[in-house]
Amino acid sequence: MSNHTSLQKTLGVSLSISISLLWLLAVVTAGFIAQDKMNTVFDSALEETAQRILPLAATEILSRDSDSDSDSDSNAQRIQALEAHDEHLTYLVRKPSGELLLQSHDVDLNVFSALPRTGFYETATHRFYGANAVRGSIYIEVAEPLAHRHSAVWSVILALLTPLLLLIPLSLLAVWWLIKRSLRKVVELQQRVAARDAGDLSAVKVEQLPAEFAPLLSAVNHLLERLRRALEAERSFTANSAHELRTPLATALAKLQRLQRQSQDASVNLQAQDIETSLRTLSALSEKLLELAKAEGGSVLSASPNDLTPILQMIVKDYEYQAPHRLHLELPNNAVLSLLDPDAFAILVRNLIENALKHGADQHPIHISLSAQGRLRVINDGAVIPAEQLALLRQRFVRANSRSLGSGIGLAIVDAIASGAGLQLNLHSPATGQNAGFEVELNIIVTR
Ligand SMILES: Nc1ncnc2c1ncn2[C@@H]1O[C@H](COP(=O)(O)OP(=O)(O)O)[C@@H](O)[C@H]1O
Ligand SMILES: [Mg+2]
Repeated sequence: MSNHTSLQKTLGVSLSISISLLWLLAVVTAGFIAQDKMNTVFDSALEETAQRILPLAATEILSRDSDSDSDSDSNAQRIQALEAHDEHLTYLVRKPSGELLLQSHDVDLNVFSALPRTGFYETATHRFYGANAVRGSIYIEVAEPLAHRHSAVWSVILALLTPLLLLIPLSLLAVWWLIKRSLRKVVELQQRVAARDAGDLSAVKVEQLPAEFAPLLSAVNHLLERLRRALEAERSFTANSAHELRTPLATALAKLQRLQRQSQDASVNLQAQDIETSLRTLSALSEKLLELAKAEGGSVLSASPNDLTPILQMIVKDYEYQAPHRLHLELPNNAVLSLLDPDAFAILVRNLIENALKHGADQHPIHISLSAQGRLRVINDGAVIPAEQLALLRQRFVRANSRSLGSGIGLAIVDAIASGAGLQLNLHSPATGQNAGFEVELNIIVTR
């Protein structure tokens, strides 16, 4: 296959990947911002809690001090919770020496430092806020597990990611659809150009082509138009010259024949015969050129299919008078329907039979066959033509032997008709299954 990459595919894949990556980046950024804001809020909650508890704790401790001289061993009191619950915030109230005065019920003493501190600080597992009161004699520290904050940030990130799971496939579909939609006119242009046959040089038309592709289309159409005009000029020149040559050639031939009749001089008559041969060759050449111009210019297809077997039969019969018993025709029992124009088919067959008669071994039979599947074969005897010469024979003015008179245009006409109808013309020498001879073979069935 070709190594061209599809614009649709490249755009679709790269846009989808870019959009997904940008979205992921946006989620990560949002996560960081959320973390920063949440830290501020959590810190202020930590600080607020400490500030609220501290005066209550101070009052409680001072009143306890005044009537507890008797049993001082119960100094550290655990504040009982009203209901059992998980504490996110735990606190300790201590003396500057580290002696415990009050603690919340779920507290883990190991996470706190030995001596109380003030302000915000952090260990590997917790974040703390410390404050003091009563002229620095009572310290409170509130601790919050960092895991609590992390899980809060993660739940925000997850909440942002969940809709993405749906949005990414949806956006992929949307990108794919939009690209397909915007490129559909370009695809249409590509299909229209690809669907053309070689002979179609009319302008390509695609409505509402994207602006980026419009110059390309107009350049292609401009080129097609120039090509069409050049080919038309060439054909009409060939056709016109051949046509214009007809009358003067016919007049010259007639005058020459009158001269021959009037003259008694043998040498003059001999020269006149030479001139007549040249004039006839010239006349045949102009006829062939006209045929070639028609084969290359006009359409070789007809509007509806025709049975080509009777036409083949009629042409072979025509040549029967010229070469009695040399032509062997094999026809199928069924009709061979083809869109190949009957006139074009007749020109093709005539050129092939003329060649077989002219270039084939004298007196040897010529086999013409048409199969039920439309395969036409014209086979004659004769010397083998080397492959390198065989390959060039369908070009104009190319001949493999100069034994017989000719212009080298017959096979060019056959080739023009075959390629105009989209048929494959095959030349074989030796003929298939033999060790000599020449074979022309093509399938004449053209369908839409
Ligand atoms: N049926 C054939 N048998 C042998 N040679 C052939 C046959 N048809 C064509 N050729 C070779 O191909 C050449 C080109 O054929 P063509 O284009 O018809 O030109 P022309 O018949 O005027 O020579 C011929 O000169 C001949 O050498
Ligand atoms: Mg010929």
